[in-house]
Amino acid sequence: MTNNDATYHVPVMLQECLDGLAIKKDGIYVDVTFGGGGHSREIFKLLSPEGKLISFDQDPDAAKNAWDAPNFHFVASNFAFLKNHLKMMGISHVDGILADLGVSSHQFDDAKRGFSIRTNERLDMRMNQNGDFDAAKIVATYDEEQLAKIFREYGELDHPYKTAVELVKARNKGKISTTGELMEALAPVAPKFKDHKFFAQVFQALRIEVNKEMEVLEKFLEQTADVLKPGGRLVVMSYHSLEDRPVKNLMKRGSLDGKIEKDFFGKILKPFEEVNRKPISPSEEEIQRNTRARSAKLRIAKRVEDGK
Ligand SMILES: C[S@@+](CC[C@H](N)C(=O)[O-])C[C@H]1O[C@@H](n2cnc3c(N)ncnc32)[C@H](O)[C@@H]1O
Repeated sequence: MTNNDATYHVPVMLQECLDGLAIKKDGIYVDVTFGGGGHSREIFKLLSPEGKLISFDQDPDAAKNAWDAPNFHFVASNFAFLKNHLKMMGISHVDGILADLGVSSHQFDDAKRGFSIRTNERLDMRMNQNGDFDAAKIVATYDEEQLAKIFREYGELDHPYKTAVELVKARNKGKISTTGELMEALAPVAPKFKDHKFFAQVFQALRIEVNKEMEVLEKFLEQTADVLKPGGRLVVMSYHSLEDRPVKNLMKRGSLDGKIEKDFFGKILKPFEEVNRKPISPSEEEIQRNTRARSAKLRIAKRVEDGK
């Protein structure tokens, strides 16, 4: 196995995720967000040579953290294609799936990637650098309505339309190519003393749109019930309410939009049963140690036999 590169990403709620997966040593597990491999490495340690771990990441940088072993497979792909890849490996069902959503510390801290408001870099924000749709394209081409929509839905800004209008006004005066230029362009509408939060929300909106994060999350979640064996565990960690919502709906109500379906006898049809009714949060001690853990919410569910 490779070195444990703590600078790439410090795994959040590591023990809680392992407990949530209830690992059987001969089981098959999937970590759909490999990153620095912090969670994967510990899952792998709990497996026997008969067990198997398959880890996905769409960022080519993450592949460097993978290791060679007959029962470990790294899949350089978006987790939206979970079922296809498993099928290609001849796997129809697995014992547990872990998703630790969002971006890694490596992606945030590598200034060249353009995710951070702390540096002035090209407006990129692609998790998969093989794609050609980036934040610069959104900033240059989306009209006011489109910009306002992402600022409202993905950034949860208080004044999405005003922000969109300001952006379009600024880009008509000159091209906006870097994160610094974007912040300068929006400075007139940034609330005083809360500008840090405002820019973080703008960046979050762009990042979610660039990577189509909500669409791929939904595609992934829709496949989980088919892929998990009865009793298999789904463990999902999210970092903002937008991504937590479909996870919570699926686990509690059986559908991504929260609509309930009942059978002839009035029994709710749902593929999962929650292991924890309330999401698990990191301990104070963990937040002190790793401030990036502070917004994490962990949900755990079990595939039921007689669900949908
Ligand atoms: C929060 S980090 C995971 C960190 C990891 N658990 C660890 O301990 O190092 C999220 C990772 O998932 C990847 N990722 C995010 N969305 C993805 C998707 N739709 N498909 C594949 N990988 C994705 C990112 O590239 C990033 O490396």
